[in-house]
Amino acid sequence: MKTYIVGNWKLNFSVGEASIYLHKLLKALPNYRDVEVVVAPSTLALQPLSLQIDRHKMKLAAQNAFYRDYGAFTGEISFSQLRGLVDYAIVGHSERRYIFGENDKMIQKKVAAAVRNKITPILCIGETESERAFGETRDVIRDQLMGGLSEVGDDGISKVMVAYEPVWAISSTKAAKLASPDEIAEAVKLIREILTEMYGAKVAEKVPVLFGGSVNSSNAGAYLTVPGVNGLLVGGASLILSEFVDIIGVAKRVES
Ligand code: 13P
Repeated sequence: MKTYIVGNWKLNFSVGEASIYLHKLLKALPNYRDVEVVVAPSTLALQPLSLQIDRHKMKLAAQNAFYRDYGAFTGEISFSQLRGLVDYAIVGHSERRYIFGENDKMIQKKVAAAVRNKITPILCIGETESERAFGETRDVIRDQLMGGLSEVGDDGISKVMVAYEPVWAISSTKAAKLASPDEIAEAVKLIREILTEMYGAKVAEKVPVLFGGSVNSSNAGAYLTVPGVNGLLVGGASLILSEFVDIIGVAKRVES
């Protein structure tokens, strides 16, 4: 399986800044066959960046989209409008869940809409600090994963990726803590067990599972060697070109 390095730029960079960053990233990046590099800029930058990108070197992701294809939904952008523009879409990020009130029902429709429109959803799941403190981590992972995938059948699952992002490890969370490789390994093992229950072992092992939460070039190697982890979802560090290039370099070394 490839290693996936996904940069989630969140609400950062103007369209011009995004374009300059992408230009420099394309220049700095060799063509790594086994490492799939993906960036998720603001929706506004997707169109211009799609004309600028070299798809042999990297791909684009949306940070969010709406599950209906068209209609009276003021302010929304649909997966069908993103079709052809992006290869991936982040769905169910904890910032969408907790700041914008997205629930598992909406997220399951978004996952299904992405798959229907030939866009790979990166389904984000993960517990908050208090859920972990109350011993609810396994239940949250199960609920969010099964909820998110409940409209995805056996054909659809081959087009889905999962990202384990414990909310307490995200750098913008107050008093964020680094997740340990053991904590990640345990969560990823559970994710694969649930995928196996849902789709069988052969299919489950082919679903890429990413880790996200304060990833940088110093800890990327340790996180990428956690059993069952196939890539990283990078927030803050993906905004710093040298850091992001170094993380991709680490992925290449771990891969080979
Ligand atoms: P940080 O890498 O800044 O912790 O963000 C993680 C994240 O939320 C990526 O989606």
